Amino acid sequence: MSLDEILTDAAREFAAVTSLPVLDQVKARYLGKSGAVTALMKGLGALPVEARKQQGARINEVKEQVETLLKARREALQREALERQLAAESIDVTLPGRGDAPGGLHPVTRTLARIERLFASIGFAVADGPEIETDFHNFTALNIPQNHPARAMHDTFYLAGDGATDGGRLLRTHTSPVQVRYMQQTRPPIRIIAPGRVYRCDSDVTHTPMFHQVEGLWVDETVSFADLKGVLAEFMARFFERDNLAVRFRPSFFPFTEPSAEMDIACVICGGDGCRVCSHTGWLEVLGCGMVHPNVFGHVGIDAERYQGFAFGLGVERLAMLRYGVDDLRLFFENDMRFLRQFA
Ligand code: FA5
Ligand code: MG
Repeated sequence: MSLDEILTDAAREFAAVTSLPVLDQVKARYLGKSGAVTALMKGLGALPVEARKQQGARINEVKEQVETLLKARREALQREALERQLAAESIDVTLPGRGDAPGGLHPVTRTLARIERLFASIGFAVADGPEIETDFHNFTALNIPQNHPARAMHDTFYLAGDGATDGGRLLRTHTSPVQVRYMQQTRPPIRIIAPGRVYRCDSDVTHTPMFHQVEGLWVDETVSFADLKGVLAEFMARFFERDNLAVRFRPSFFPFTEPSAEMDIACVICGGDGCRVCSHTGWLEVLGCGMVHPNVFGHVGIDAERYQGFAFGLGVERLAMLRYGVDDLRLFFENDMRFLRQFA
């Protein structure tokens, strides 16, 4: 190939190339190790000295020209690529915005916050405890006997490898173990609530395997059942914003309280006339409560002769359902945006 041919060929071939990777391949044909220019260079050694000088200078000139052509073509291709990209990525500022989707608080979180706020206003501090509990804190210290049905494997989630014995671990079935932990560390007077998640092998329209409770505990020298009734009646009236919300206390049983009661409120859906939500009784059960059992005080080293107190445990989803008029508990945990958006 003559030098002139190399120049015209290179010019034609570079011009025909439309992409950068191909340009590199074509470049190799001229300037690469076995390219045309390189081949001529290799032939120089066979020439007489004078001719070698002249021819060498000529080859270098052509080589530079090929490189110049190459550079120009490369820059042109890069410019084209950039322009194509800019055109493809152009922003049409006249399009409508996608909108920002601000998050909202989950209805259960809202209800918890409301409960905490109301109790804080009458002097209750917030305490918490672990969701993975010991058998001792969840059952034994709460005076729940070894053969109590709540301890059965089909009611309680035990952690693998642990038996249903003291020292074994489980997912707490109620927030009552926080009572125990708090009283182990703090001497009366005690006035706390303990909100949190609890777990039970349970699933239907009014039960889910995970739900929330708020525990309450007030211990002092003169706390009476009258205080229990007053605090809880006042809380419910304010929670549901009904000045004269009727309440009633029915005798019940919990191993860790004596006496024990279930608290009912007049149905907030029908006002007490009877409807589907209250099973036509006019009443809704909202929590369990009672006076702290002396045996519980014994387990935490508080003098039951000197101190007494009351405790209660309410279901948060229950209150949220009543406040918002939701008739299936499971809706709270399906994460259906159509449902959740209504509370945002
Ligand atoms: C208790 O858990 C006692 N620890 C409450 C207590 C505390 C009594 C302190 C006395 C002193 P109970 O198992 O009834 O009690 O549960 C309390 C509330 O939790 C119920 O009224 C109900 O509202 C709610 N609840 C119970 N099981 C479920 C479930 N699977 N899903 C949703 N809510 C539930
Ligand atoms: Mg109950």
